[in-house]
Amino acid sequence: MKRPFAMLTATAHAVPKRVFKNDEFRSIGVDTSDEWIQERTGIRQRYIAGPGETLTSLSTEAAREAMAAAGVTAPELDAIILGTASPDRLLPSTAVEIQAALGATRAVAFDVGAACSGWLYGVQVAEGLIATGSYETILVIGGEQLSRIINWKDRNTCVLFGDGSGATVVKKATKGRGILSAYMRSDGTLADLLQRQKGAGAAPITPEIIAEGSHWITMAGREVFKNAVRSMADASDRALDGAKLSAADIDVMIPHQANIRIIEATAKHANIPMEKVFVNVDRYGNTSAASIPIALSEAMKQGVVKEGTTVMFVAFGAGFTWGSMVVRF
Ligand code: COA
Repeated sequence: MKRPFAMLTATAHAVPKRVFKNDEFRSIGVDTSDEWIQERTGIRQRYIAGPGETLTSLSTEAAREAMAAAGVTAPELDAIILGTASPDRLLPSTAVEIQAALGATRAVAFDVGAACSGWLYGVQVAEGLIATGSYETILVIGGEQLSRIINWKDRNTCVLFGDGSGATVVKKATKGRGILSAYMRSDGTLADLLQRQKGAGAAPITPEIIAEGSHWITMAGREVFKNAVRSMADASDRALDGAKLSAADIDVMIPHQANIRIIEATAKHANIPMEKVFVNVDRYGNTSAASIPIALSEAMKQGVVKEGTTVMFVAFGAGFTWGSMVVRF
C-alpha cells in the first residue's frame, strides 16, 4: 500500500471574542512591554476566552463551519480526534463533548495529548484509521484554552499563549491528492522543560500547590527554543525525504506558530524563503495544537492554499513532541 491514503479537505477556525494586546499586560501588573514581546516573539496580540466560551464551544463552532464547507453532516463522521493540552474537564475527553454538541452519533471520539503537535498527530492517527479501510470521514481538531492554564503573573510564559480552535475534515485520498509524507517523534526525557508539574494524578491538587502555582504551565524558555529549532529542522528534512521532494517543490510552509524567530530558523534550515511561509503568530500568539489548523484555515480563505498547492506542515511541542507532513491539496 502506498500513500496518499487520506486528504485534508475543508478547514475552519474559531477564536474567542476578546482580543488581548501586548500593552494590556501592564494594566494587570505584568512587568513587560509591547516592544520586548514583539522583538523576542513577533506576537502583537492574542485572543482570550471569556465567560461562557469553552474549548467545546469554540471547537464546535470551527467544526460546524469546516463540515459545512466539506459538505459533511454530523452523522457521517466516523471519528472525532481532538488535539489539546487544555481540555474543558480532565475526565471525560473534550472530544466526546464536541461529539455530543455536534450530534455525531456514529463517531468514535477521543483526545490526543501531544501539546502543540496535537493537530498534526491527530491527522496522522486519522490517516492510519482511514488506511484500514474501516473509516472514511474524520474530523480532526486542534483546540486550546491556554489562558486557563497559564500563570498570569509569570511574564516568562503568560505573554506567549492564546486561545482558539481549528477543525479539519480528513477523508479518503482521491486522484493523488492528500498526505504524501508523515513523520512523528517524541522525547520524554525532556518532559520537565515545558510542563504543568503538579495538580494531576502524581501530585493531586492541594491548597499548597495552588499557592505555589505549580499547577500552571512552566517553561525553560531558552532550552525549549533550542530544542524547537533543532526538532523542527529534523522534521522538515524528514517531510521532504518522505515525499521525495525538494524544497523548491513546496509552495507553502505552515509551521507551528510559536515564535517568529523559531519560524524563521526552521524556514532557513529547510531552504524555504519567508515569502512562502504562512505566519499569523503576530495576531494569535502561540495557540498550541490550534496554531497549524488556524493558519491553514486562514491560508485557505485567502487562497494561499488551494487545489494543487503542495504544503509542508512542521510542528513542535511539550513532551517534547514534533513532526511534519507534506500534503498536496
Ligand atoms: N517581558 C520582559 N522581560 C522578560 C519577559 C517578558 N515577558 N520574559 C522574560 N523576560 C526577561 C527574563 O527575565 C530575562 O531577564 P534577566 O536576564 O534579568 O533574567 C530576560 O528577559 C532575557 O530572558 P531570555 O530567556 O534570555 O530571553 P530569550 O531571548 O530567550 O526570550 C523567550 C525568551 C521565552 C521569548 C524565548 O526563550 C522563547 O521563545 N522560547 C521558546 C518559547 C516557546 O516557543 N515555547 C513554546 C514551544 S511550543
